[in-house]
Amino acid sequence: MLNIALFGPPGAGKGTQSKMLIEKYNLVYISTGDILRQEIAEGTELGLKAKDIIEKGGLASDEIIVQIIERKIKMNPDVNGFLFDGFPRTYVQAYILEGLLLKLKTQLNCMLSLEVPKKMLIERMLERGKTSGRADDNLEVIQKRLEEYENKTVPVIDFYKEKNTYIPIKGTGTIDDVFNRLTDSISVNLKKRLFNVVIFGYPGSGRGTQAKRIAEKHNLVYISTGRLLRDEIKKETEIGIKAAAYMNKGNIVPDELAIKVIEKQIKTHPNANGFVFKGFPRTIVQAYILDGLLRRLDTSVSMMIELEVPMLDAIKRLSARGKTEKSRTYDKDLDVIINRMDVYQKQTTTVTNYYNRLNKMVNIDGTGSNGEVFERVDVAVEKAYKNVR
Ligand code: AP5
Ligand code: MG
Repeated sequence: MLNIALFGPPGAGKGTQSKMLIEKYNLVYISTGDILRQEIAEGTELGLKAKDIIEKGGLASDEIIVQIIERKIKMNPDVNGFLFDGFPRTYVQAYILEGLLLKLKTQLNCMLSLEVPKKMLIERMLERGKTSGRADDNLEVIQKRLEEYENKTVPVIDFYKEKNTYIPIKGTGTIDDVFNRLTDSISVNLKKRLFNVVIFGYPGSGRGTQAKRIAEKHNLVYISTGRLLRDEIKKETEIGIKAAAYMNKGNIVPDELAIKVIEKQIKTHPNANGFVFKGFPRTIVQAYILDGLLRRLDTSVSMMIELEVPMLDAIKRLSARGKTEKSRTYDKDLDVIINRMDVYQKQTTTVTNYYNRLNKMVNIDGTGSNGEVFERVDVAVEKAYKNVR
């Protein structure tokens, strides 16, 4: 999803720019001011409660605003994203928005703040007042609105500065000038966001096959620690020599080695759209390590897919691969295969619990043909992708 808050003092051009932005990015528009004015016009209970305050230039209560926003979000499931105009307007509302978006498993991507000198704001609103019919577009109320902005709304800026999502935008010049500044800044923001998938499941559950397809479809970098380590072994590097002793027995390699190969891979793809991790993390410690590695790129795991295949099927698949040219050294021997299953099973619950708690886990039936499995995987990936982009 793409969720934007358009911020700025009264008259900064939030409404004007919003209309253009929602069209370009196909977003649902939530203007608390517009909704309140409509409620007042319709004489609803909510409108009656807010009428007096608004006409005097004060702020409506946070309770009223929560109701409005929640209703509007509920009315619009499966959207590309939301554009908030005139919300959040208090520090409390900033927390409210965090909570509401968390429920949707998403977050605010940026708070774009239109900056316009006070004198110009007043001129714009007085000019608009000639035709707008807005009860608050007269000098006395405009002054009060600007005062409310200074006192109650400006502190919201700090909230987003701390989250690194606050972006000031010059709000003077023509409407198109301002629009171009806004869209430039949004596209930088969109490019920065990586989509990262972890694919999990028994050895032989089809992780590699599915991971490669996900990577191809979304142009992500495929990171298979197993494959990377095999390369190191083949090249007889220091890492490879150390890793071989563990891998040949079907045991997992020490974390330092896995970290090194992943770091190397991340470094060689500085412009990646994101990563698909296969075979890592396998333990809770590695789950923390992966968070740390991604944190350094200012990103995180977007989703974790567990492919569910009965263990016996997985054993049969590996044993069958052991008889082909694709065989891995650890496919040949049934004891080794069973040891890998055992290692996986012992670690699996702590890892899946970890991602479950983060609301990132998706379980997918891994039986059937590769194509059939991918169809299921694809539905889940598309959904998660939409939440990120
Ligand atoms: P709201 O409707 O949100 O009003 P506002 O924040 O005071 O902002 P405006 O709508 O006046 O200005 P704008 O930034 O949208 O500018 P516009 O594009 O129109 O809120 C109204 C009231 O509702 C509040 O006072 C409060 O009581 C209540 N309320 C709302 N949300 C609330 C919340 N979350 N919590 C509590 N209370 C809440 O542009 C202004 C004029 O300038 C237009 O005429 C436009 O044509 C012109 N213009 C725009 N851009 C340019 C440009 N680049 N060059 C020249 N002219 C321009
Ligand atoms: Mg407006």
